[in-house]
Amino acid sequence: MNDNRAPDLLCRLKEYAEKDVCPMHMPGHKRTALGGSELPWQLDITEIDGFDNLHAPEGILADGMQLAAELYGSERAFYLINGSTGGILAGIAAAAPPGSRVLMARGCHKSVYNAVELLGLRAAYLLPPADEVFGVAGSVTPQMVEQALEVHWDARLVILTSPTYEGIVSDIASIARVCHTYGVPLLVDEAHGAHLGFSPAFYGGAVKAGADIVIQSLHKTLPSLTQTALAHLSGDLVDPDEMARRLAMFETSSPSYLLMGSIHRCLCLLQERGEELFSAWAARLQLLDERLQGLRHLRVLCHGADSLRSHRGFWGFDPGKVVVSGRTAGLRGPQLMEMLRTRYGIECEMAMGEYVLAMTSPADSEEAILRLCGALLAIDAECTAAPPAAFPALPELPPQVMPAAQARSVGWRTLSLAEASGRVMAESLWAYPPGVPLAVPGEVCTAALVQAVRALEQAGVRVYSDSGSLPDAVRVR
Ligand SMILES: Cc1ncc(COP(=O)(O)O)c(C=O)c1O
Repeated sequence: MNDNRAPDLLCRLKEYAEKDVCPMHMPGHKRTALGGSELPWQLDITEIDGFDNLHAPEGILADGMQLAAELYGSERAFYLINGSTGGILAGIAAAAPPGSRVLMARGCHKSVYNAVELLGLRAAYLLPPADEVFGVAGSVTPQMVEQALEVHWDARLVILTSPTYEGIVSDIASIARVCHTYGVPLLVDEAHGAHLGFSPAFYGGAVKAGADIVIQSLHKTLPSLTQTALAHLSGDLVDPDEMARRLAMFETSSPSYLLMGSIHRCLCLLQERGEELFSAWAARLQLLDERLQGLRHLRVLCHGADSLRSHRGFWGFDPGKVVVSGRTAGLRGPQLMEMLRTRYGIECEMAMGEYVLAMTSPADSEEAILRLCGALLAIDAECTAAPPAAFPALPELPPQVMPAAQARSVGWRTLSLAEASGRVMAESLWAYPPGVPLAVPGEVCTAALVQAVRALEQAGVRVYSDSGSLPDAVRVR
């Protein structure tokens, strides 16, 4: 595991634990098992001599971050210990001055919306159309970005997600070129794509494609502990010192060395065995493709009989995602998820509308992949063909009349949907699928929105509000 330029953090923690040093410092467990024997207390330290400082790295952590930058091809990498969430907040704050305009995909993660609210940003939206068969949002295109930048000439940052939760990849190289023509930096939320760019099977990595800021959750698709992530900077449109300052603002001042040790191990694994692991994973997914050719009613996005060519709105796809639709088999996503759980002992990542999402990683054995295939084939054999219902249309984006933070501040009221019509939203409403907000705080609750919420719910689409008071009521002002 050890690399000359980046000494192994976990090994150093272990060596330190064996020394006779009396810990008169945090954490309060003092590396004893007073709190229970299950946890690795011995390795859980704070910034003590020889262990560097996450927010001003110069030693072992700086070496690890340098390794991350070299592996992915960025100019500067930062360890993140509260997931992509902290990196997204910091990246947006570093690139978009408070109150400025940003251009963002409407389906962005809530951390992006939180950044917009916290920084008082003025958001304009990119709206990739939903796929006709699976209902999931498609790729953002360079043309969409160019048109939006022509209209919103004052935009200071473009933000999009690639791959999406369901694995849809956008053409980041072309989008980055468009952004750079306008002198605007591009932030890619690659929370689901830390595994991209190491093998032809998993293509579309945003760092090598030229994005200025890329945020990746190592924990989502690679062997690394939950909460571990990376931020990458490239080019000269974003100031690395400002990024570091913002990270120190959004992340804890007591970072976990266990988490950082896990990040380092994950990077070493990529460096030493990446090629082998990714080609073995790709081979197992090839096997999945072959097995799933046997499905008659269930459809699996870009796997089995389905392929990228059948989806006009997708530029690319991450084969690690297995999105199974029961739409032509008379099954809803949550039903399918429940069948996989109770009958086959398979716990999936999530279900919404008519599909269920199973996530794979290099840590899945061939046996696990075959078990998933076997379960899907067995469920499929019990299904009969069902005519697919059309996806209900989403309403047009409502007009924005005040900043999100102002709309959420004290003074909101909870009213029935009918009474809310014409007022200003004080919370978000999200439709799943396709996982985009129908309205965000500060936008008008139009009559068309009220009608659309009802139509979506009748069609079986879940509409959520932040406060959870739907379907009875919503927060407005
Ligand atoms: C698209 C996307 N971006 C960002 C995040 C936040 O990532 P993390 O959980 O690592 O903070 C998520 C989490 O699910 C996500 O799906």
